Amino acid sequence: METLLIDKTHDESRQGEALAPTTSDPLTFTKRFYIESYGCQMNFADSEVVASILNKEGFGATRNLEEADLIFVNTCSIREKAEQTVRKRLTEFKRLKKQNKELLIGVLGCMAERLKAKFLEEERLVDLVVGPDAYRSLPLLVSEATVGQKAVNVLLSREETYADIAPVRLDGNGVSAFVSIMRGCNNMCSFCVVPFTRGRERSRDDQSILNECRELFEQGYREVTLLGQNVDSYYYVPAEADGSASAPVTFALLLEKVARISPLLRVRFSTSHPKDITDEVLYTMQRYDNICKYIHLPLQSGSTRVLQLMNRTYTQEWYKAKVDRIKAILPDCGISADIIAGFCTEQEEDHLDTLAVMDYAKFDFSYMFFYSERPGTLAARRYQDDVPEIVKKRRLQEIVEKQNQLSLQSNQRDLGKIFTVLIEGDSKKNEREWKGRNSQNKVIVFPKSADSALTKGSYVQVRVTECSQATLRGLLVL
Ligand code: SAH
Ligand code: SF4
Ligand code: F3S
Repeated sequence: METLLIDKTHDESRQGEALAPTTSDPLTFTKRFYIESYGCQMNFADSEVVASILNKEGFGATRNLEEADLIFVNTCSIREKAEQTVRKRLTEFKRLKKQNKELLIGVLGCMAERLKAKFLEEERLVDLVVGPDAYRSLPLLVSEATVGQKAVNVLLSREETYADIAPVRLDGNGVSAFVSIMRGCNNMCSFCVVPFTRGRERSRDDQSILNECRELFEQGYREVTLLGQNVDSYYYVPAEADGSASAPVTFALLLEKVARISPLLRVRFSTSHPKDITDEVLYTMQRYDNICKYIHLPLQSGSTRVLQLMNRTYTQEWYKAKVDRIKAILPDCGISADIIAGFCTEQEEDHLDTLAVMDYAKFDFSYMFFYSERPGTLAARRYQDDVPEIVKKRRLQEIVEKQNQLSLQSNQRDLGKIFTVLIEGDSKKNEREWKGRNSQNKVIVFPKSADSALTKGSYVQVRVTECSQATLRGLLVL
């Protein structure tokens, strides 16, 4: 059975995956880089910007470590475990340097930003340290590192959106692609390191987003996921030719513009913040069949008291009212969440509130974590990480079990229903079966038919005939 993993944000199976285009880069490249990505979709999208910048410098991507002149690790700081994984990897890479003295190793992304030159000075693990807003300086940094200089750029920017850089699609199935619409985050959730590693929030020029989506569609892509830490606060004011400001583009408007590229282009987005998602966005989703009926709406905690300490700025009631609103306007909308167990001061009754909100919202899926204190965050400075690990883990286990039940029930409700499925490719286990997703972002596996006109990127009707907690299986409706 395939696991139902509905986005890459914390998809364990994708962490550390080596990325390179499926068709190998042309032999015109004289040098090769290898890149591994960790963390959220934005990091995976950034690796594609990095690839584009490096291609221009004559470096082609490879999935083969032995072939690489440059090794990059695009890192994540969200939880301690994410950082530990990267450190282990870097120690392994360092060993490769013994065999190949010319080999350069670079740390990119959030850990680079958080630890800065420490990587070069204390640990001597790497040759380059490059923060998420500094990728344009990679060519310069690579040439500095080549002659043995320390190469560090971790400057954060208020403007950088890499709007004009066409990402090189690295791992694509050729059907779905990520498109960054903004960077950074202005929320200060007290547990979260992202505002420190990614800097201030800024929105990307709407025209460059539209052009990128249009080009993807023309290349055969059938699904784009618009990415930001808080997409509902997307806000861009285009400049007129004479320099005057024209009407601002909100997220709802951007969504509509992307949806109008073609009815055959599915549009998804992530992440929505419960405090910011508007009715206007929900009504826009209602108007367009090709805007997928799926919202990732992180809950974090079901307790109003804990939410307040987390600085999430909504209450349990507010969250439930948002869920009601989504279900009223979009009755068949899938909803998923992120949940943290054992945040500072969490009591048993707070934990029970979380379980109760899960029941109320009937999440189709959740990403669940136990709290990991991150240095420098508001919570680390203000509150004690006082829930014992054993309690955190027990609560997390209860949350996971609750979600497993909810996911199974959600899948059982789909039995007998017919969905429009976008085929993404062969199922992992069996090449006589296709794998695709419905609008609600659920993976559906079904046997191929004799109809040879079907390929990945085709839309088909599938009736769900079987389910487990993790997967839907079905049959083509011909
Ligand atoms: N911008 C997104 C979340 C990005 S981080 C949002 O606001 O929802 C992804 C998830 O990691 C968060 O939703 C949270 O559930 C989890 N997370 C963040 N910091 C964490 C920490 N210190 N410990 C445990 N989980 C954390
Ligand atoms: Fe972190 Fe909160 Fe910003 Fe999400 S909204 S990235 S959890 S600070
Ligand atoms: Fe993403 Fe991890 Fe950075 S979740 S923004 S890569 S800290």
